[in-house]
Amino acid sequence: MTSNATVRLTLPGGVEVELPILEGTLGPKVVDIRRLYAATGMFTYDPGYTATASCRSAITYIDGEAGILLYRGYRIEELATKSDFLEVAYLLLNGELPTRQQKQQFVHDITYHTMLHEQIQFLFRGFRRDAHPMAVMIAVVGALSAFYHEDLDVEDAHHRLVATHRMIAKMPTIAAWAYKYSIGHPFIYPRNDLEYAANFLHMMFATPCEPYRVDPVLARALDRIFILHADHEQNASTSTVRLVGSTGASPYAAVAAGIASLWGPAHGGANEAVVNMLEQIGSVERIPEFIARAKDKNDPFRLMGFGHRVYKNYDPRAAVLKQSADEVLDLLGKKENKKLQIARELEKIALNDEYFQERKLFPNVDFYSGIILEAMGIPRHMFTAIFALARTVGWMAQWNEMILDPEQKIGRPRQLYTGPAERPFLPIDARG
Ligand code: SDX
Repeated sequence: MTSNATVRLTLPGGVEVELPILEGTLGPKVVDIRRLYAATGMFTYDPGYTATASCRSAITYIDGEAGILLYRGYRIEELATKSDFLEVAYLLLNGELPTRQQKQQFVHDITYHTMLHEQIQFLFRGFRRDAHPMAVMIAVVGALSAFYHEDLDVEDAHHRLVATHRMIAKMPTIAAWAYKYSIGHPFIYPRNDLEYAANFLHMMFATPCEPYRVDPVLARALDRIFILHADHEQNASTSTVRLVGSTGASPYAAVAAGIASLWGPAHGGANEAVVNMLEQIGSVERIPEFIARAKDKNDPFRLMGFGHRVYKNYDPRAAVLKQSADEVLDLLGKKENKKLQIARELEKIALNDEYFQERKLFPNVDFYSGIILEAMGIPRHMFTAIFALARTVGWMAQWNEMILDPEQKIGRPRQLYTGPAERPFLPIDARG
C-alpha cells in the first residue's frame, strides 16, 4: 500500500528527490527507492541487506524486537501446539487454514508424491558413504529438475502446483535415503498409511528385516520441529530460492540452491554446530572459558545458536523448543541429558552477561533443536537436512508468491565499484 507520505532527499548541488513511503499491514514502512538512480544517478549501499526490503510478502511476519513470529497472521506458538505440519504447509502455501475436506485432499496429494523415480536411487550411489547428507540433498534435489523437466512451465499454475506438491512430498524420502546410504542400509520406501513425520522416521529407522513401530510421541515432537522451521520471511536461503527462481529457473534447481545456502554454519548449519559446541564445552565448569572466547574479538569462536539478524529478543521458536526438549528427554528417560544441562546453564550465564545484553543476543531456533534431534536418535549430520526438509514448505510458498508478484523482476543487485579506473593493456614484456 502506498501511503501519502514521502521522504525528500537533498543531494549535493541542491538536487532534491522525493520518494514515496510504502506501508504494509505490520512492521516497518519502506522507502520506495526504485526511482532513486534515475533521479540522482546514485544507488543505495546495504551489504547483507540489513535494512533492505527485497519484496512484498504476505506469508510470514517477524517482530524482532518483541520476539513475535506469525505465519499468515497466526502465532507460531499456537500453530506449534494446536496444528500439524501439513496443515501449516497448506496455510503457508494458500494463506488460510484448510477446511477438513481441503486438508484431506492436500494430505492425499502430498502422500501420493512421496515416492522417487526408481532411477534416482542410483544418484546416491555416486557418493562416498561418508558424504554429508546436505551435499547429497543438493545434488539429488537439483537432479529432480532433470526428471521433471518436460512439464514445468513456471507460468503455468497447474505445473507450479504439481512441482510444489512433489518438492514437499519428496524431501523426507530424499533426506532419509541420504541417511540410509551413509550407514549402508537399504532404502526404505515411503508408506501411504503413515503421516508425514511418522513416514520420515519410518524411512530413517525401519529395515526390511522386521516390522518397525514409529513412536507417536517422537513423531509428534518431530512434526512440531518441522512447523517451527517451516518459514522465516526473507532469510538467506529463502532469498536464494527467490533469486534463482526470479530468472525462471526450475523450482527444483532453486530449492537445491536454497539447501546449499542453508548449510552454512551462520544459517541452518548452526543446529549441528551447537551440538558440536556443547560437546566441546563438555562441562558446566568450562562455560566461562567459552563465554570469554565468544566475546574475544581476536577469537573466531562464536556462541552457536545465539544471536539473530532480526530477533533482538528471545526467538519464539527457541522458547517452544526449550520446553519441547524437556518433555521429549523426560519421555525418553534422558532428563539428565548433559548437553541440555550445559545449554541451560550457558543460556543463563550469557543472558546475564552485558556483552550479550548490549548486543541483544538471545538463543535462536538452532540452540535447542539439535539436543532434541540427537536424543531422538537422529545423527548430528542429519540435523540441517531436517531443517531443509521443513523449510522446503516455506521456500515453495515464497517461490510461488514471487512468480505471481507483478512487481518481481530478475534479481540483479548493483555495487559500489572500488577497482581500478580504465587503463590500457600492457604487453607482457612491458610489465614490471
Ligand atoms: C538461522 O535469517 C533467519 O531468519 C535465519 C533463521 C531462519 O529461520 O531462517 O532464523 C535460521 O540461521 C538462525 C541463526 C543461526 N546461526 C547461529 O546461531 C550462528 C551464531 N550466530 C551469529 O553468527 C550471528 O548472530 C548471526 C549470523 C546469526 C547474525 O549475525 P548478524 O546479524 O550479521 O550480526 P553481527 O554478526 O553483525 O553481530 C553483531 C554483534 C557483533 O559484535 P560487534 O562487532 O558489534 O562487537 O554481535 C556479535 C558480533 O560479533 N555476535 C556474536 C554472536 N552473534 C553476533 N558474538 C558471539 N556469539 C554470537 N553467536
